Amino acid sequence: MAGHSVRAIKQRLESLAAAGVTDLPRPRSGQAEAATPSIARVAPPRPAAVAAAGREQALEVIRREVADCRRCEPLACSRHTTVFGSGSPTARVCFLGEAPGADEDLSGLPFVGRAGQLLTKIIEACTLTRDEVYILNVLKCRPPDNRQPLPGEIANCRGYFERQLEAIAPEFICCLGTTAAQALLQTTEPIGQLRGRWFTHGAAHVICTYHPSYLLRNPGAKRHVWDDMKLLMARMGIEL
Ligand code: URA
Repeated sequence: MAGHSVRAIKQRLESLAAAGVTDLPRPRSGQAEAATPSIARVAPPRPAAVAAAGREQALEVIRREVADCRRCEPLACSRHTTVFGSGSPTARVCFLGEAPGADEDLSGLPFVGRAGQLLTKIIEACTLTRDEVYILNVLKCRPPDNRQPLPGEIANCRGYFERQLEAIAPEFICCLGTTAAQALLQTTEPIGQLRGRWFTHGAAHVICTYHPSYLLRNPGAKRHVWDDMKLLMARMGIEL
């Protein structure tokens, strides 16, 4: 105990324990005198980590169901893979798209084709990253020839995207395009009338905007999407 009083060591241990440190490295040989009584072997998980793990587990259960889903037999036959969603299970904002295209069907990841690259740019212009948000689609299988999802297909997939949103519990949902907006809000109003307004879905604030594929065909609409993103970022408290 040379150089240290028992009282000083006790105080040091108490302050480490108060800071959440419950395990200390073993002393190297020759340092045995600095050895400390063990407090506990494993640090208790922090609440945020617990929340993330719980959401990840819930998403994993749904992901497995989706991977085996054959509710829409023709889509299940033609798909290469299901496209579940990607991003942070604790995201504050989810971006909801329509359905996988050819690139997504091959990769298993949402929004990785041309429209996806544009969505990535939009997210980054909002000073966010794809890893911070969560991206999912209404349909988990690619409709042949990229046709619009049929009402029966949306009904079959509703339970999956609703449960994903329930597991993530985002504060905000941004619907990309008509299919996502109408499916989530259960409305038939066109996207031109839905965009730029606030809705709710459970506890989440919902905003709708044009789909990135529409922007590829109509670049002039990008300014409307940017207006919608500014509304979203302002409500999220993110300065642009
Ligand atoms: N369009 C979508 O709606 N979703 C994707 O994942 C890709 C393109």
